[in-house]
Amino acid sequence: MPSTVTLSAGPLSFSVGLPDRGMPEILAFGRGAAVPDFWPDVPRSSRINGMDADVPSAALLPVAGLGAFGWPAIVGHRDGRDFLLDFSGWTVRHDGATAVLAASDAVAGIDIEISILASKTGVFGLSTRLMSMKDGVYTLDRCMAGSFLLPAGEATATRFTGMWGREFQIRRHHLAPGITLQENRRGRTSHDRQPYLGVTVGDARFAFHLGWSGNHLVAVDTLDDGRRLVHLGALFEPGEIRLSRGDSYQSPVVYAAEDAAALQAFVRSEILTWPGGAMSPRPVTLNTWEGNYFDHRLDSLKAQADAAAALGIERFVLDDGWFGRRDDDTTSLGDWIVDRRKYPDGLKPLVDHVTALGMQFGIWFEPEMVNEESDLYRAHPDWALKVDGRPFLRSRNQQVLDLTRPEVSDHLFEKISAMLSSHAISYIKWDMNRDLTHVGGVDGRAVTTAQTRAVHALMARVRAAFPHVEIESCASGGGRTDYGALANTQRVWTSDCTDALDRLEIQRGASLFLPPEIMGAHVSANPSHQSGRTLSLTFRALVALAYHLGVELNPLDMSPAERTELAGFIALHKRLRPLLHAPGANFNLDPRDGRYVWGAMTSDQAAVFVAQGPTMVCEQPEPLVLRLPGSPERMWRIAAIHGDSPSGFIRMSDGQKRLLSGELTFSAAALASAGLPLPMQRPETALLLELTPAG
Ligand code: GLA
Repeated sequence: MPSTVTLSAGPLSFSVGLPDRGMPEILAFGRGAAVPDFWPDVPRSSRINGMDADVPSAALLPVAGLGAFGWPAIVGHRDGRDFLLDFSGWTVRHDGATAVLAASDAVAGIDIEISILASKTGVFGLSTRLMSMKDGVYTLDRCMAGSFLLPAGEATATRFTGMWGREFQIRRHHLAPGITLQENRRGRTSHDRQPYLGVTVGDARFAFHLGWSGNHLVAVDTLDDGRRLVHLGALFEPGEIRLSRGDSYQSPVVYAAEDAAALQAFVRSEILTWPGGAMSPRPVTLNTWEGNYFDHRLDSLKAQADAAAALGIERFVLDDGWFGRRDDDTTSLGDWIVDRRKYPDGLKPLVDHVTALGMQFGIWFEPEMVNEESDLYRAHPDWALKVDGRPFLRSRNQQVLDLTRPEVSDHLFEKISAMLSSHAISYIKWDMNRDLTHVGGVDGRAVTTAQTRAVHALMARVRAAFPHVEIESCASGGGRTDYGALANTQRVWTSDCTDALDRLEIQRGASLFLPPEIMGAHVSANPSHQSGRTLSLTFRALVALAYHLGVELNPLDMSPAERTELAGFIALHKRLRPLLHAPGANFNLDPRDGRYVWGAMTSDQAAVFVAQGPTMVCEQPEPLVLRLPGSPERMWRIAAIHGDSPSGFIRMSDGQKRLLSGELTFSAAALASAGLPLPMQRPETALLLELTPAG
């Protein structure tokens, strides 16, 4: 007998009907969505060309054939046979907040388990497991993690585009009829195709993300009745997933929520794991890359550490250049041994110096990579991914190690362990600086998916062995930013672009699925190493201040006045970080007329950043509308203003002066409707407004 399963995640519900045979039907998904009373008496079938059988089009993980004509979410075969899947005997098992739907196809010899996690943060997490139960190799060409059903009607998609230094560029477009497909084939999460999709249909909002650091597919398929199925999952190379009897494929997890706030809450409560069980205040970081590159001089680094400590910096991260003979990016990846030319007595003197100053010490690794110019490659040329007879393509002069070989992963674990056990290191910047282009394993078959899993496994192994060590996920900036990587890491290097103007868009985009406290944002030097642009220290500092704040320059190059100013911003960050990083407090508005607004608010306190990027077009800025939590009647005022005030304002009336000086009060209700009439701001200026209840 058909039965239904209904799960609730915050305001969202997800209901599926379990048929006697075939895939489960998604009966309801979204806020307030209810199971139709007439299911299954009135079937909703594709009924194309007069099919006599009722085949539901809104299937959870539709399979092709047998009357289903949509985009199939599972595709496989045994040497051309067993290409039709038809599961039966559906059962439901509840395991805490997770329901597991299971069924078998005795003919194809495939068992399936679909797990649906319903998190109270308002997020569903779906993942799928297929098991081969009979002889002969079952080649799995596609297996999405899960499917979701969206209503019919005009729909706008939110997606990311980008490139190195330009991650998380938000693009919105109407969803066309038919299929909308995104494929990522870079072997890492990528800079240009995030496994993310936002959709609005009327008042309904949805946000999807796949927790996976490898190749992926995002598909939207329009059904005959105008509704849409959304599928996310890993993308396989041909012949990559081959299941012998008893083997199984476990997909990554696809997450679905209503909005950024729910996704951020979920990341905080269910993805991130912290040393000691809870997040400590995010330590302000000095990262040595842009201030030193490969030119490591011990005396200078010690002096930089002294200067950093005086600035209030709490973590010193030694970037690329400390190992092998790494004087540029042509050599030494793989040789994770301290370079005695640069550090005659090893790294200990620098680590001890840093920790004696009260700062944590962090270190850079790029474990998966090898330069052909390295001792490791000379000893083990076969350890690199390659396909015989095909070009051995370099990218940034480097090759990728085959982590699916246990001896390779073991070797890397030992090298990382040796550094961590012999030094007081509490942080790793884990980098990955190239796309995967010829991902052949030992037997010449593609291993992209297995490599992605092996990287996650190595991260997990390091975390388990050194639970006090935090890890940052970096891939030439934000190229490996996803919940799969975040299961074992605590920070992302949001972008190699530290130009604050460009960072406005990058950070706003990443905020669609990441909380601010795990997004690395660094104050870097003038002119910007990436853009050549010169920006005031105020602008650079305020644009970074709400996130995981860091400094990416040589502090010895700063004037005493600049150091004092930067120390002031660091102190301000430390004072406000309990608010800025408080669960549920942060917000980020869509920019208008080049003005970006973000920050954090509770019913007692608000910190509002207002940054003007390009020159305003309108003479009169749109009033700043904010919805403060708490009573609408409560009166508030501007308690303090930091940054470009009044120099950043083009014109200010007497009333605006009184407002900004805190003399005038306003109700939360008025702020939420009429808004604050702020003055027009000059381009490339930023302010931080502190709001407090008035009396
Ligand atoms: C990548 C990272 C940078 C830096 C360099 C070092 O580009 O994103 O932050 O670590 O590698 O080579």
